[in-house]
Amino acid sequence: MPLFSRHLLGLQGVPREDIQLILDTAVTFREVLERPIKRVPTLQGKTIVNLFFENSTRTRISFELAQKRLSADIVNFSTSTSSTKKGETFKDTVKNIEAMKVDMIVVRHASSGVPQYLTRISNANIINAGDGAHEHPTQGLLDMYSIREKFGKIEGLKVCIVGDISHSRVALSNIFGLKTMGADVSVCGPATMIPRCIEKLGVKVVHSIDQAIEQNDVLNVLRIQLERQAGASFPSLREYHNYFGITSERLEKFNKNIVILHPGPINRGVELSSDVADGPFQIILDQVTNGVAVRMAVLYLLGTLNTRESR
Ligand code: CP
Repeated sequence: MPLFSRHLLGLQGVPREDIQLILDTAVTFREVLERPIKRVPTLQGKTIVNLFFENSTRTRISFELAQKRLSADIVNFSTSTSSTKKGETFKDTVKNIEAMKVDMIVVRHASSGVPQYLTRISNANIINAGDGAHEHPTQGLLDMYSIREKFGKIEGLKVCIVGDISHSRVALSNIFGLKTMGADVSVCGPATMIPRCIEKLGVKVVHSIDQAIEQNDVLNVLRIQLERQAGASFPSLREYHNYFGITSERLEKFNKNIVILHPGPINRGVELSSDVADGPFQIILDQVTNGVAVRMAVLYLLGTLNTRESR
């Protein structure tokens, strides 16, 4: 079955059957990652450029590994060594890369909307690897994959997204994806970090972390985005940790098998105490492993199959 669109810009509006197809396809690629030779010829002859205008460890390496596992030709663009440093515009940079005949572009940028803009100036398939505070769709997909792997389902689960909701692209992709897949989604954090009217997206708001732990099956705990001035939203990191940090004392109080996700990078001692970050409730490194399989699925489905979209 083809996907709805030839790009992956976000999870808003992506149909349930497309999310299902991506997650099911990722199961096959997850098996490939367990083989001694972790490579299939699926994208042989395809050329992919990774345009990272913002720092990344997990997403950049995960996409690069996914592309290598699929036998694609890949090029990594880095702003620090590129001619953008000589004043070349973003549009000229992309047009020049495009002139070298690339099939797919994976882009991360600090400005929301850059992947959407790329679809207007490029003929390549565009995959959003995180744009500003807008969306991070492959993170949302790998989070859903990891939840489904743990519980065998997404529908009906109670999932709370905790922390810096207002600066988070992970929050939006999780909300859109999880709601589409039938989860009961809430957000929890200081009032200064919860966007006004977020309930219009169909999520509940709670301001007590104890309530969030007591009432949910899954907590997806977000990083406090200090580089986006999130620190101005509360008096100190210590106070944030005291009110919203996930600690083993808090988890033990409710004596339940909650599952904790975190997209990384973690601010240890802020969102999660170190013992929780390494403890039995979290599946943080499973998320990272699953991310490669999920990105392989996205690259495969966009790179090789026709879409339902008319161009
Ligand atoms: N989760 C995530 O996007 O991490 P990176 O910023 O390291 O890619």
